[in-house]
Order: sequence, then structure tokens, then C-alpha cells
Amino acid sequence: MSIIEKAARRIDQKKEALAASQPAATLAADVPVIIDTDSVPTAATAEPSIATVITPVVVAAPVIAPAPPEPAAIVAPAPVQPVQPAQPALAEAPAARPRKQGTRKVELDLNRMREMGMVTAAGGRTLLVEDFRIIKRPLIKRAFAEPAIGQPPGNLIMITSSVPGEGKTYCAINLAMSIAMELDHTVLLIDADVARPSVLRTLGLPAQRGLMDILLDDKIDLADVMLRTNVDTLSLLPAGTSTPRATELLASQAMKTFVYEIANRYPDRIVIFDSPPLLLTSEAQVLATHMGQIVLVVESETTTQHAVKESLRQLEGCSNVNMIYNKTREFPGIEETYDYHYG
Ligand SMILES: Nc1ncnc2c1ncn2[C@@H]1O[C@H](COP(=O)(O)OP(=O)(O)OP(=O)(O)O)[C@@H](O)[C@H]1O
Ligand SMILES: [Mg+2]
Repeated sequence: MSIIEKAARRIDQKKEALAASQPAATLAADVPVIIDTDSVPTAATAEPSIATVITPVVVAAPVIAPAPPEPAAIVAPAPVQPVQPAQPALAEAPAARPRKQGTRKVELDLNRMREMGMVTAAGGRTLLVEDFRIIKRPLIKRAFAEPAIGQPPGNLIMITSSVPGEGKTYCAINLAMSIAMELDHTVLLIDADVARPSVLRTLGLPAQRGLMDILLDDKIDLADVMLRTNVDTLSLLPAGTSTPRATELLASQAMKTFVYEIANRYPDRIVIFDSPPLLLTSEAQVLATHMGQIVLVVESETTTQHAVKESLRQLEGCSNVNMIYNKTREFPGIEETYDYHYG
């Protein structure tokens, strides 16, 4: 091959090489345009679902963060979430309410009580009704008088005695019934003789939960265990579940709190405590410290002077100590009947 032929061949080869490189150069020249439009979908296509889900959030978030007015857009749904958990809580409230509102009602057999010689709204022994009318008058007066500073509220009245069987329960029920017969007074009779409860038994009612259960379980409220009666103004609080810790519970801070709570929650209500005897246990003495008024029942011809003096000594420092002289036979020969004297 001559030099001229070789030169012509090189020129041809360069032409071919140039022609072969042309398409790539053309493509490269279009890229900016094409990428601008096509590369986004292509990039998005690489993570299609992420792009579509995240985008609205990511867009919203940066807007919210720097610009306070915007958060409203997102804060708006935010309150919705707290409301949802709150709804079940609200829904539970009505479920709990009936338990509190459901103070149970019991039926007192007033005829039976009258036959037993007790005060009832249905009438009965006139002498008995009259006796308790006299007994209750000064107690009611003091119940609503302003207590001296540091003294317990006068509407808390404790019925106690020196020894068992002197007539505490009998007097407590009759006094409660007599006060309840007054139109403008309500009465809560509490069986605080927790070792030997007898209020419900005397009234012919079965044992129920009561005071001890309130003191044992702080979730139990007075309204859960209190019993309304067919005498509208009279309610009962039974002694409740028997427990060996009864003495400690009566002396406990929980009892003190409970007693002051009922005195203050129902200032128009007289609360009568049928209590244990003073000389056998320490419960009555402890209970007495919470009471605005105390009634010491003394059984005539039975309780010794020594016992009465010892009881009064234990009650020293207590406010308003009164005595009922019980079971006297005032009219021997005419009718063997018990009576009361009050002083
Ligand atoms: N004035 C009264 N008239 C008729 N019966 C009475 C009188 N006082 C008490 N009783 C009767 O005497 C008994 C003992 O009374 P009560 O149960 O009230 O005494 P208590 O002091 O509560 O006894 P305890 O210490 O055992 O609880 C009962 O049968 C009661 O009915
Ligand atoms: Mg009793």
C-alpha cells in the first residue's frame, strides 16, 4: 500500500470512529432535559410506596416545626387521640356510679319493734316515747351548737355503759328512732360494738358489711355499706365483717378520719354510735375521744357504784357526758315495766 493509500485509509477509519461515537454524544447532550423530567419518576419508582406515604407527612412536618400557626393542621388531629383514650375512662365512670348511688334499703318491722317495747313512728308505749323525748332534747340542742375549739362535733353521740347488757343497744335504737321522728333531723345509727354487734339482730335484720369493711378497705365508702330504712330519716351502718383487728381498727387513724368525715359531710345529721362497754375493752375509751357527746347507760340495781365511777374516770376529758339510768321499776305492783332516768 502506498503512503497516499495509507493516509486515505486512516482518514476513513477516523470517519468511522467519529460516526460510531456520535449517538452517545447526542444522548449525553439530551440528558439534562430528560433527567429533569424522567429521572424524578425514575427515582420515585425506585421507592414508590415510601414516596407516596412519606411525602405528605414530610411536607407537613417541616412546615409545622418552624411556623407556629401551621401546627394547627397537625395539632388538630392530636387532640383527637387524647380524647379517644379519655372516652373509655368516661365510659367507666357511669359503671362505677351506680355502686355509689346504690345505697341499699332495708325494711324495719315497725310492728315487731313496737311489740318489743321500742319507740316507733307507728306509736307504742306512750311512756317510752315520752321518756326518749325528754332524753333526746338536750342531745339535739348540743348536737347543732358550735363545739368549743378543739372539741369533737356535737352531732357525734356515743352510747356506752360500764359492763355488757345494761341496755346500750336498746337505748341507741330508741334514741335514733325518736330523733328520726323529728321532721327536720336525720339520723345515722352506727353499730360500733364490733366485737358483739347487735343492732341488726335486735332489729331482726341479717348481718351485712359495714364499719369494719370501710376501715379495712379504703375503696369501700360509707354509701357502699350504709342501709337506708323505711323510716326515711333513719339510716344504719352495720358493724360489718368480724375481724380480730377490730380494736386496732377502732383506734386507728382511719377511724378518726372516718368519724370526722361523716360529722362534716352531714352536719345536719345526728350520728349515734352503739358502742362496746367501757370496762371490758379499750375500744370504747378510744372511741369516746372522737365523740362530741357521750351517754353512759347505767342499769339500775345491777351496775355497782364502783363500776360507774370507774367509767366516769375513763371518760374524763370527754365532752358532754350524760347518764341514762335504765331498767328502773318505777311502779312495782301495778306493772312490771322498765323505765329510764336521765341526768
Ligand atoms: N329499758 C328497757 N326496757 C326493757 N328491756 C330492756 C331495757 N333496756 C334493755 N332491755 C333489754 O335488756 C337486754 C340487754 O339490752 P341491750 O342488748 O340493749 O344491752 P347492751 O348493753 O347493748 O348489751 P351488750 O353489751 O351485750 O351489747 C335486751 O334484751 C334488751 O331488750
Ligand atoms: Mg349491745
